[in-house]
Formats: sequence, C-alpha cells, structure tokens
Amino acid sequence: MFYLTTAIDYTNGAPHIGHAYEKVLADVIIRYRRLRGEDAYFLTGVDQHGQKVQQTAEREGVHPATFVKRTTKQFLNLWEKLGVHYDGWAETTDPRHKSCVQGILSDLQQNGQLYKKSHSAPYSVRQEQFLQDRDRDESGNFGPQWGEVNIVEEENWYFKLSEHTGWLKSFIESHPDVITPAFRRTELLNALERSGDTDLCISRPKERLRWGIELPFDASFVTYVWFDALINYISFAGYHAAPDAGLPNFEKLWNVAGSRSTHLIGKDILVPAHGIYWLCMLHAMGFPDAQIPRLLVHGFWNSKSGDKLSKSTGNIVDPNVLADSFGVDALRYYLMRDIVTGKDSDFDLDRLVMLFNTELANETGNLCNRALNMSQRFTDGILHHGAPFTSDETALQASLTDSTAAYQAAMDECDISRGLEAISRHVVHCNGYAERMKPWELNKDPANHERLATVLYHLAESVAHAAVLLSPILPDAAAKLAAQLNLPSLTSLKLADLHWGLLPDGHAIGKPKPVFPRIVIEESAQA
Ligand code: MSP
Repeated sequence: MFYLTTAIDYTNGAPHIGHAYEKVLADVIIRYRRLRGEDAYFLTGVDQHGQKVQQTAEREGVHPATFVKRTTKQFLNLWEKLGVHYDGWAETTDPRHKSCVQGILSDLQQNGQLYKKSHSAPYSVRQEQFLQDRDRDESGNFGPQWGEVNIVEEENWYFKLSEHTGWLKSFIESHPDVITPAFRRTELLNALERSGDTDLCISRPKERLRWGIELPFDASFVTYVWFDALINYISFAGYHAAPDAGLPNFEKLWNVAGSRSTHLIGKDILVPAHGIYWLCMLHAMGFPDAQIPRLLVHGFWNSKSGDKLSKSTGNIVDPNVLADSFGVDALRYYLMRDIVTGKDSDFDLDRLVMLFNTELANETGNLCNRALNMSQRFTDGILHHGAPFTSDETALQASLTDSTAAYQAAMDECDISRGLEAISRHVVHCNGYAERMKPWELNKDPANHERLATVLYHLAESVAHAAVLLSPILPDAAAKLAAQLNLPSLTSLKLADLHWGLLPDGHAIGKPKPVFPRIVIEESAQA
C-alpha cells in the first residue's frame, strides 16, 4: 500500500493557492500510483486547534468550534471543486484523534519522556512558541516573522527531544531517501548541527489557551498545537484505534516492508516541525527506523513580485476564483506544469493562460479534434489499423514509447512538470506527422484510402495513450477523451497495459467535442 498524507491545513483562514497546489500534487501522485497498479491511500485534513484559531474566533465573536466548522467547510468544498479525491479525512477536533493524542502522551509520560519545569523567555504570539537567541536577527531583535514578542514566565511540560536528536542525525545521514529533495536533507542536517540540546515544550496553560487537547495527566494544560497536529498522520491511519472506530488498519497502511509512508509538506514546515519534532516523536514512541516516514518537501508559489503569497500580506490568489474563471483543468494543469517539485515558482496568470492555450488547446486539443473529426468525416468514424507502415509510423510509435518511458521516469520521481513535458513532446510529434501526412489531401483520392486509414488510426491511438497518461493530472478531461473515443474503460487502464493497439481494428469512435477550448481574455479584463 502506498500511503501518502499531506500537511493538514490551518483553519484560521480560507484556503489559498499554496494549499490548492499541495492537495492537487498529492492527488496527482496518488492517481499516478494507482495508474502504476499500486494500492494507494491518501489522507488529508485540517489542523483545527491552537492559539491563532482561538484568537481569530474571538475576533469574530464566535466559539472556536463554530469557527473551525465554517473554515473546514471551505476546504472541503474546494477539494471537491478541484477533483481532489482523498480516502481519509483528518480533523484534529475528532474525538478519535483526541484519544490517540492522549494515549501517546500518557505512554510518553510513563516512559519518562516528559517532564515539567518553569521557564521564562520571549514568546511569539504569532508563531505560538518561545524564542531563543538564535531566533534574533543581526541587530539582536526578533524579526517581523515572529509578530508580537513578550516575555512570558510559566510552568510547562516538556518532551525530551534532546534524547533523540543524536539518533535522528545518524538516521538521516544513513537514509538519504528519507528527505527529498536532497538539498532539503542538507538543510535539515545543518539545522540539527545548530539545534543543541533543547527540549520541546508541548503544553500550554489553559489560562492562555483553552482551544486544544487536554493533557491526560495534568488538566490545567492543553497540548501544544504542533504536537497534536503531527499525530494526525498516525491517528487517522488507525494507530491505537478501536477496531470499530471506522479507521484503516494501521499495520496494513503503515507497516509495509520496503515502502515508507510519504508525508507531503511545504518547505516552511520541514525544520523544525516535521524534520525534527515529528521524527523524534515517532522514535520516542518506539517506531523502528524502517517505519519512519519519508518527507517529500515541495516549494512555494510566490507572487510575481517575489513576495510571499499569504493572507496577512493581502497577497492572495484565490483558487476558487481561478477555478471558476478558467476551469479546473486549466488550474490543475498550471499548478502541476509551471513548478518543479521541490523548488519555488512565481504564480503568473498570463502563464496559466499561455500554457493552457499553447499546450492543451493548440496542441493536445488540436490533435484530439483532428483525429476524431477527420475519422468521422473520412472513414465514418471507423478506425482501421491499415498498412503497410512507413518510417513515419515507426517514428511516431517510437516517439510514443520514448515519451511514455520519460513520463514514467519523471512521475516516479514526483516530477509532474517533466512528465507533462514528455506527453507534450509526443503530441507535438503527432501534430507534425498530421501536417506532413495531410490526411485531408489523402482523402481526395480513393486510391489512398488505406494510407488515410493508417494515418488517422495513428492519430487516434496517440490520443488514447495521451488520455491515459494525462489522467492523473486531468482526470475529467481524460474521461471526456475516453468517452469521445468510445472507450470508457480507457481511463481505468494501468500503465503496464499501455501497448500499441489500444483501439482495436474496426473500432467505432464517438463524436468529437472540444475538451480544451481556448481561454479568451476580454480586453477589459486584461486592463
Ligand atoms: N497546520 C500546519 C501543518 C500541520 S501538519 C501536521 C500548516 N498549515 S498551513 O495552512 O500553514 O500550510 C499547509 C500547507 O500548505 C503546508 O505544507 C505549507 O507548506 C503549504 N503552503 C502554504 N503556503 C504555500 C505556498 N505559498 N505555496 C506552496 N505551499 C504552501 O503549516
């Protein structure tokens, strides 16, 4: 079983384009693993506790529970709109999660992994954490990323993180595949060099924060939001769950030899949350090295000016508006096409329109329309394999084989953009082939009928393959193409079934209808 989870999204605001990117990427990876013939399970959800949620709810004059219900609905609606299909949904206010977190806390306490002490230090309200000297900038101040910083003295519970960082360092050094891409692994190792021997404060006194999971052994505290949220990856995977809890079988999902579960996260939450806290928490819980998850770290979408896209800067791109204006296919395509997994990219609406219009409308759409239209007009919609093949057909078939192999190699590495480039290469080859073979000319002479059938069949067969390869990225468009080709079963094929001859000799194709109509921007909208 391929088990993939994403970071759970904060519910202190509405979803933005960064959230949409991560979920679409996860959805594409899962659909691709299924296309490869693997069993796959996709968990995602929302992070509903913490000080920021409590503060925003207070500002809006509602109970945090009412507030998170409302924001959670916005995430659920967006995933439905974007065709993000998950198997498990994690909400950290779920009682099943709460009992898992409390069970883990009790176990850790019994095993001597937790202790209580008094502490006085600068505290960032925004980041909900105590700060240290290393968090100061060159001038000795705490930078704007920390927001309001106050000196806070309080008693709290601590997790003996420092007992596990030595293990973590050697584990990461000896398992290069656990943090990808490689430069993020280096970043984590560097952070570990600097981390010293600090432990992790895992509680918040109730006077300061009520909106959290109560410590099972000290009722005047709730659990620090990160400690609670990180556990979602196992609580909703069925870790320590009752058999009738309606959760997966943890052993089957997580404990698969040779295949680590994958957590897909953004670069901002690798250090320290996932890369240090979470891996050390799992180690403290007794997870052996073979069961430590893999962290797949993606980059950020920034605004064109290079600023962060965030609600607080007002620099926000609303995925709902984009999907409504340009269509889900255009948005999913852009989010997968214009960024290299692991790196950052600038969100650029002009490029969204340009990439859709050139690669999908002009190339793929054109190939589909041509293949289907001409088959309907010239051969009554019946495909004939024809013969004999010339070097043009041999080259076309070789282009498909090469592109499919390049697609698979890229997709195996979660490099979706490179996978799409590989499909595009074949589509461009096919359009060039159509231009050279000129089926519209061949049709003028009945003596060329056999040759005409061969050319049209090669175009239609290529569309069928393209539909299958595109299906993880554009599932709706792929299903439409399969319907037009009159092969509804096409999109349930596996990668291994992709051989030349998907469309049988004598196959009757359906009626063509443009799947990728050009995006036309009104002059006034451009101004
Ligand atoms: N709630 C925490 C995660 C807890 S996981 C146990 C959180 N939430 S978040 O809403 O701030 O971010 C959710 C995910 O979106 C993170 O993986 C984050 O990196 C990602 N992104 C947030 N902004 C982003 C961009 N501008 N671009 C791409 N991804 C971004 O962190």
